[in-house]
Amino acid sequence: MQNKSFSEQTQDLIGKWVDFIKDFRAQMTSIHVDRLERKWINITLLTVCLLVAIITIDAFWHGINPPGKVETIDSAKLHLSKEFAESNLGVQLDGQGAIVIRMVAGRYSFFPKHIAVPAETKLTFRWVSMDVLHGVHIPMTNMSTMIVPGYVAEITTSFPKPGEYPVLCNEYCGLGHNHMWSNISVIAKEDWKAPAKIIVNKEPDNG
Ligand code: CUA
Repeated sequence: MQNKSFSEQTQDLIGKWVDFIKDFRAQMTSIHVDRLERKWINITLLTVCLLVAIITIDAFWHGINPPGKVETIDSAKLHLSKEFAESNLGVQLDGQGAIVIRMVAGRYSFFPKHIAVPAETKLTFRWVSMDVLHGVHIPMTNMSTMIVPGYVAEITTSFPKPGEYPVLCNEYCGLGHNHMWSNISVIAKEDWKAPAKIIVNKEPDNG
């Protein structure tokens, strides 16, 4: 069997689907369907379309999207990396005054354990794992991602309301998984003070 290119494979797959749909239509028109039954089939299909539309619109509305780029890092040597050294974790301003938050996930916590950020402000989170696969979920926000060892997970978000937010691990990572959490204090924009230390934009490092 010869190898097919990606576009050929895609065309094959689309072709199969088109055949399947044609076949399905032919079957549906050839068998007798009661009028009432037909009505309910249509209602069901409409409901499915409506739900898919709601999910799609909601994803665009809340900026939910799959990660857009791949950035690698040596998870075993985070403490030696420039960007994720212990003294560099937490909330910082980059050279342009944008807020960047660097967090390390490890069994069983997120480090730093507690951070404070301003509300209604664009925040860029950069997450890395020091050991195994973790996940991070912050309820009421679009923050929900896997933290895969060897990769940097970058998410941009903002918190509309001040308050205390939990940061939870949502990927099973071991016996302490259900105790793996930390928290974020979201402070009114005008009350938040930028951290004193200003770090110029991250430099490329080799881990
Ligand atoms: Cu970390 Cu579950």
